[in-house]
Amino acid sequence: MQIHTSKPAKAVRGEITVPGDKSISHRSIMLGSLARGITTVKGFLRGEDNLATLNAFRAMGIIVHDDGETLKIEGNGLHGLAEPADVLDCGNSGTSMRLMTGLLSGQRFFSVLTGDQYLRKRPMKRVLEPLNLMGATVFGRAGGDKAPLAIVGTSLKGIAYQSPVSSAQVKSAILLAGMYADGETQVTEPHLSRDHSERILRYFGADIETYPGGTRIRGGRELEGREIIVPGDISSAAFFMVAALIVPGSELLIKGVGVNPTRTGIIDILQAMGGDIDLQNCRESSGEPVADILVKSSRLKGIEIGGDLVPRAIDEFPVICVAASLAEGKTVIRDAKELRVKETDRIKAMAFNLQKAGVAVVETENGMDVTGMEKLEGCTAESFGDHRIAMSMLIAGLSARDQITVNDTECIGTSFPNFTTLLQGVTVI
Ligand code: S3P
Repeated sequence: MQIHTSKPAKAVRGEITVPGDKSISHRSIMLGSLARGITTVKGFLRGEDNLATLNAFRAMGIIVHDDGETLKIEGNGLHGLAEPADVLDCGNSGTSMRLMTGLLSGQRFFSVLTGDQYLRKRPMKRVLEPLNLMGATVFGRAGGDKAPLAIVGTSLKGIAYQSPVSSAQVKSAILLAGMYADGETQVTEPHLSRDHSERILRYFGADIETYPGGTRIRGGRELEGREIIVPGDISSAAFFMVAALIVPGSELLIKGVGVNPTRTGIIDILQAMGGDIDLQNCRESSGEPVADILVKSSRLKGIEIGGDLVPRAIDEFPVICVAASLAEGKTVIRDAKELRVKETDRIKAMAFNLQKAGVAVVETENGMDVTGMEKLEGCTAESFGDHRIAMSMLIAGLSARDQITVNDTECIGTSFPNFTTLLQGVTVI
């Protein structure tokens, strides 16, 4: 088992770029494979999750050249995938599994998706239910809720679906299936989740339209290969933003970060807590907004977080809990029940770890209350196999009285392979 330790820091200083956005990297492979002609992808995230998607498409006959910097995908058109000869392994990646379940439902072949011990526990009914309404034939364990999933590709019909959860994975699975469906497919959700699928589908020429509260796509339109430059992942930048805020005397510039408004909840939350965060050099790249983010250490205060902010910061709650535990007063997190079905139950995992670091945390069904303190206690924390829990607790260690050790840190490689090296490079001990 791999273990990492982080020590109290004097400052976090410098200029960094973080690896490419995980969500956009997945979608680049998927759409590049289904488009006609060549798609080039620069800044692709070489984390295990994205490599699982890449391997799956290679296993379905897609040729991808990789010179170490740029991926060149030879797209085969909407019906150009081949039946895979073996089970497709999504590893730890919920995005790979849920999005591929959507697009594989409309193929003319049979496929099986599996994943690691954590992914095989995560709920899949949320995608199977709408896909079944479209006429899909997908089987899974636990009455169709758990992977492995077996997909018998068939013809699909468009539906209008009101998703009960604000989930980009659910929405995207339906939209990708919608590319193969007869007629029009519509999806609405309670609050807007990340809209990378809508943007990239439009960028590749899909017949898609967004309107307040929802999206519609018409099936059958071929996509055209494109050039994609993947921006830095704001979810990875988030760890460094919090690091620079909580360690006095810090100033950090994070360059080239994706600042899609459906992902910038973390910036809004940290600014509302009193964080000094400035967006500079705002620009656009491959249909996505990008900026440099300057962060200076700040005295944070507790706030209430809920409603539509939650899906806009859904992956950042573990590190938001770290910021909250060092803020003045109480932070109340609500409407965040989705955190219980991420790579692990992130409410339980962060409550457990922060309590070990001496923080007063009260778990609630759909969130938690965190009372901030001056400095955390040193402790040994558990990752629970979840990359974002591991990285969040290593950030917490920068502002503790003593070192924080995190057990079982291999999982960091799923989304941020060079996290510890990058952190060491900007930390003054
Ligand atoms: C993702 C959507 C989110 C997020 C995940 C990536 C995506 O999941 O937590 O890390 O790329 O679509 P949900 O859509 O289930 O909230």
